[in-house]
Amino acid sequence: METINQQVEEMEVYDTILETIGNTPLVRLNSVVSDLPCTVLAKVEFFNPGGSVKDRIGPAIIEDAERSGRLKPGGTIVESTSGNTGVGLAIAAAIKGYRCIFVMPDKMSQEKILLLRAFGARVVVTPTAVEPDDPRSYYSVAHKLVEETPNAILANQYHNPVNPQAHVATTGPELWRQTKGRITHLVVGMGTGGTITGTGRYLKEKNPHIKIVGVDPIGSILYELHRSGRYTKAEGYKVEGIGEDFLPSTLDLSVVDHVVQVNDKESFLMTRRLVREEGMFCGGSCGSAVAGAIKYAHDQKLGKDDVVVVMLPDSGSRYLSKVFDDEWLRENGFLEQTWADFRAADIQAAKHAHDIIAARPTDLITDVIAQMKQYNVSQLPVLAENGRLLGVVSEIDLLNHMLLTNHASHAPDETIESIIETNVPVVRPSTPLETLVGIFSKHSAVIIASDDKVQGILTKIDILDFLSTQVR
Ligand SMILES: Cc1ncc(COP(=O)(O)O)c(C=O)c1O
Repeated sequence: METINQQVEEMEVYDTILETIGNTPLVRLNSVVSDLPCTVLAKVEFFNPGGSVKDRIGPAIIEDAERSGRLKPGGTIVESTSGNTGVGLAIAAAIKGYRCIFVMPDKMSQEKILLLRAFGARVVVTPTAVEPDDPRSYYSVAHKLVEETPNAILANQYHNPVNPQAHVATTGPELWRQTKGRITHLVVGMGTGGTITGTGRYLKEKNPHIKIVGVDPIGSILYELHRSGRYTKAEGYKVEGIGEDFLPSTLDLSVVDHVVQVNDKESFLMTRRLVREEGMFCGGSCGSAVAGAIKYAHDQKLGKDDVVVVMLPDSGSRYLSKVFDDEWLRENGFLEQTWADFRAADIQAAKHAHDIIAARPTDLITDVIAQMKQYNVSQLPVLAENGRLLGVVSEIDLLNHMLLTNHASHAPDETIESIIETNVPVVRPSTPLETLVGIFSKHSAVIIASDDKVQGILTKIDILDFLSTQVR
């Protein structure tokens, strides 16, 4: 009789999750490349079980260390990683029974730290703003942990030849097969350089005419190093996973034909377009790669026979609090405001603000007119002794009052009390511009107040003035 194990063997079942790594889909980009004549295809690596291209190298590194005898049962894997390699290693370690310690620079997203801890790994966070040879740098801390932990190995994605080899063995052949050998260009963001080196090497062996294009964030040293061989000083940037402040030995720049530079803003705005227009929920470095591919395709005037493959390394789920958070983007100057984003407080703040001028009900008409003239305003809020808002007094009400009294002059001791307009809308500082515009169809002024404290008064001309200064 057939055993259940024999039956399972006939079913469509993977023995472990490791077998589901790779063979990710190649998907045509449409909307974001609609003005290009060439075909642009995305290799969507978030289909890997750990959600990134690094699932390809984690198990390969562990299996190599096992084969060479460096990693023994019950051992510990240490790695300095921006997150994705950690997940790739953690998946294999979970199945094979190893412990993991990951060292991460503090600019990395909280989601990545929590994700690694979810696999049971220990995560050590180190400062970003130190040189690589500083003892606090994530490279130095990882080396020290290996020395101190018995039976520990450093996965060493930056210098381990297994990293590019994993792409020679998997990513390269997949792309050759999926494009039926018609790929003409490969565009890849460069971090350790494992992906571009391994995939590029394989493809060039198949067809030496295929152009390999690296994408480097502004602030990283790789662009200049490729262009002139010169080492420059690295500057900070926000996109995660690509760009370096040193040359990893896993990056063979001789495989790379061109390097395109992209900035954070281009990367993040393109990432959001990939999600909203192509339905691909991908991470920030995917936007860098696509923005770089588009620049390259325009510059090199690629034509209708060109088939460009862009690597999309990971998923957007790790960046919800960054690329996909409007507040974060705006704080970092990557998102332009639309008028719908403005609030009453923004308009008040943009006025050439003097301290709020207000009138009291007991003020003389003559004094109030003099005040309006001095400050060049057409109305004033009127406050009671205790600071409570009573209403506004406006130019037009003063004028009507003076004309209605039917005298060429008015009593010198007359106060504004009888002409205070009490039906004035009061809004909070957070009221959106859209709401204000609605209010102005019925009223000539609105008071901004929070906790009963008047913060300002806005008229239509303030809004017009504000919008006219928001030049693109
Ligand atoms: C999100 C992301 N994109 C791109 C890369 C670059 O891949 P590679 O290290 O193979 O150059 C990495 C590497 O960590 C990454 O995490």
